[in-house]
Amino acid sequence: MKLVFENISKSYGKNKALSDFSAQFSEGVYALLGPNGSGKSTLMNILTDNLKADSGSIYFDGENVLKMGARFREKIGFMPQYPGLYGSFTAESFLWYIAALKGINKKTAELQIGEVLTAVELSDVANHRISTFSGGMKQRLALAQAVLGDPSVLILDEPTAGLDPKQRIAIRNYISRISFDKIVIIATHVVPDIEYIAKDVIMLKKGVIVDNAPPAELLQKIDGRVWRIKTKDEYVQDYQNKYKVTNILKDDDGVSVRILSDERPDEAAIPVVPTLDDYYLHVFGE
Ligand SMILES: Nc1ncnc2c1ncn2[C@@H]1O[C@H](COP(=O)(O)OP(=O)(O)OP(=O)(O)O)[C@@H](O)[C@H]1O
Ligand SMILES: [Mg+2]
Repeated sequence: MKLVFENISKSYGKNKALSDFSAQFSEGVYALLGPNGSGKSTLMNILTDNLKADSGSIYFDGENVLKMGARFREKIGFMPQYPGLYGSFTAESFLWYIAALKGINKKTAELQIGEVLTAVELSDVANHRISTFSGGMKQRLALAQAVLGDPSVLILDEPTAGLDPKQRIAIRNYISRISFDKIVIIATHVVPDIEYIAKDVIMLKKGVIVDNAPPAELLQKIDGRVWRIKTKDEYVQDYQNKYKVTNILKDDDGVSVRILSDERPDEAAIPVVPTLDDYYLHVFGE
């Protein structure tokens, strides 16, 4: 299975939201990582045909997805950033409704609805109205509807927004587990959500790809440039003025500051193992 983007561009008036986006996807999890306004949702909306690109094409196994039309839409599951859920429906009736829209037969739907509700931990409230759900519960239902029908291409726009840490981990594991035979594209600015499950990370900056590589490769780029310095409260501001500070930890005998610097900042600095959070700041932290 292969999904290929060729030079996708999109502007809103004078604002270039995406410039010549080209990338290839096969089975596995891909992260689309970038700050607010970097073009992540724009890209996903183009892929799902909710938005027209100004130029460029997308191919699925060699066929233009726009020409495929419904045949491509049947293959995709989409969790939009701001999903519209019907409050008066129960979780289960909503999924039945989605299953009907996706043309899933009754027997398969019954099986899958049970499975996805369990996977997103909503079985207990399957018969509650969506209007009574918390933000995190709605988010998990939105993921469930995307996964329904076992799509070949799963497109998730900020899937863990509003989830507590335990749910985040559960959802992350679930996505990873179902990704083996799917192309999964996750847009996020939450690094830990994708750090350990993405085979490639595509970093987007103002609509331009600045990186497209496995996490380990990105970490290598800042190897030897991340430092920890034990210091006193009064010097923390100096370090912040001079360097990109990725963490500050106060404890009983002072402050531990984690900084990015090409050269050793001072004798007190100890080199530490980089994380993807450090890399994110390296790219976006100006
Ligand atoms: N409907 C629209 N009309 C005008 N400008 C838009 C529209 N949608 C997005 N934009 C602009 O396009 C750029 C990319 O927006 P997009 O929503 O794709 O970013 P994003 O990476 O998804 O951001 P976020 O992390 O906040 O969801 C931004 O500058 C945004 O202001
Ligand atoms: Mg977005």
